[in-house]
Amino acid sequence: MANADLMDKLVSLAKRRGYIFQSSEIYGGTGSVWDYGPLGVELKRNVKDRWWSSMVHQRDDIEGLDAAILMHPRVWEASGHVENFTDPLVECTNCHRRYRADLPEVEGGQCPSCGTRDAFTEARLFNLMFKTFMGPVEDSSAAVYLRPETAQGIYVNFLNVQGTARQKVPFGIAQIGKAFRNEITPGNFIFRTREFEQAEMQFFVKPGEDEAWFDRWMDTRMEWHRDLGIRPEKLRFHEHGPDELAHYAKKAFDVEYEFPFGWKEFEGIHNRTDYDLSRHEEFSGKRLQYIDPGSNERFIPYIVETSMGVDRVMLVLLADAYREEDVEGEARVVLGLHPAVAPIKAAVFPLVKKDGMPELAEKLNASLRAAAIPSFLDAAGSIGRRYRRQDEAGTPWCVTIDGQTNEDGSVTIRDRDSLEQVRVATDKVTDWLSERLS
Ligand code: GAP
Repeated sequence: MANADLMDKLVSLAKRRGYIFQSSEIYGGTGSVWDYGPLGVELKRNVKDRWWSSMVHQRDDIEGLDAAILMHPRVWEASGHVENFTDPLVECTNCHRRYRADLPEVEGGQCPSCGTRDAFTEARLFNLMFKTFMGPVEDSSAAVYLRPETAQGIYVNFLNVQGTARQKVPFGIAQIGKAFRNEITPGNFIFRTREFEQAEMQFFVKPGEDEAWFDRWMDTRMEWHRDLGIRPEKLRFHEHGPDELAHYAKKAFDVEYEFPFGWKEFEGIHNRTDYDLSRHEEFSGKRLQYIDPGSNERFIPYIVETSMGVDRVMLVLLADAYREEDVEGEARVVLGLHPAVAPIKAAVFPLVKKDGMPELAEKLNASLRAAAIPSFLDAAGSIGRRYRRQDEAGTPWCVTIDGQTNEDGSVTIRDRDSLEQVRVATDKVTDWLSERLS
């Protein structure tokens, strides 16, 4: 399948099955913002819950935080974003479209929109932060920014969290939340958008121990992605060269996936040194040092950051899971999502609308939901069509109530990937599924 086709197919499946809709579609849509539908929101929550569980619940050296999106404007001066968070922008003097100057087509001198050659203006730096006003007066003293990264909310709360949670360095603070960037050239579906979500963890360490922790976090994060079932050959690290490093980073590695449009970053791991905390000390006038309780040594911790784009992981999961197959001469589209993140875990099908099958299916569906196993009852259409709908939705198991159910109380459970079918007693279905989901 051609790569461009795969992207089109993903966008179309995502809409058809209720994963992702274009924002404000009835008004013609906004190209750079997307809404998550009933299945999309479940997939997203499952990804975030899994991340939160691995970072916060399963460790005793990381605390959670939920800081506000709007922050004091000085935060963004201290962080360097007012000065440095820019992209070079050019305008085509023929069609007046604006582009990032570092796009390959633009560097080649040709306008991607009208095709005119050598008609670009000189590049100027464009700040990617969205600016708005706090309160009723729209003047520069009321200007605030929508955060372009969640990290700064963690830095300004560093001592609040450390003190109240009685943590000792090394320890981390994790947060999941929205971030906003006024990207010049958004695109590739949910890959580059202007509103997105980040799952970030900032790990505070003693200077000198940063390199070892950096290596440890690289391994931990790659393992997490592999555990999601993402094909290992589609994952790799990319180290930032000196010209790629963000203004705050001494060292950075991207976790990349081979998307249909090439190898691209979906998580960044950064050694931010003591840059952020030092700058906040300087700009706020407040001490942000840590005092080692054993040695009484005072220092500003170094920070190792892991920053995952939640929407980008969703695109990785969808692209990695999509496949087209031929089953006994019939084509099927499958989303082979890991059961832990699949939005619906099991679908329940009564084979016919008689002999008590609909009632039994309703009862089974209700008992699965009561056991917190998201399930879906589908009594419409042929059994083949019902399977195809669930294969496309990424549902790992389909449970069919059939003629034999009335005879021996068993149902058929069909595996989405192997297509293997097993018979399980109706009152054991919840346990059977729970075992495979734990
Ligand atoms: N706090 C560090 C930081 O924000 P980054 O490399 O600029 O680092 C981290 O961003 C992650 O956020 C990226 O790997 C990506 O997954 C996601 N991200 C960044 N910009 C994005 C955008 N415009 N749309 C969707 N996700 C984005």
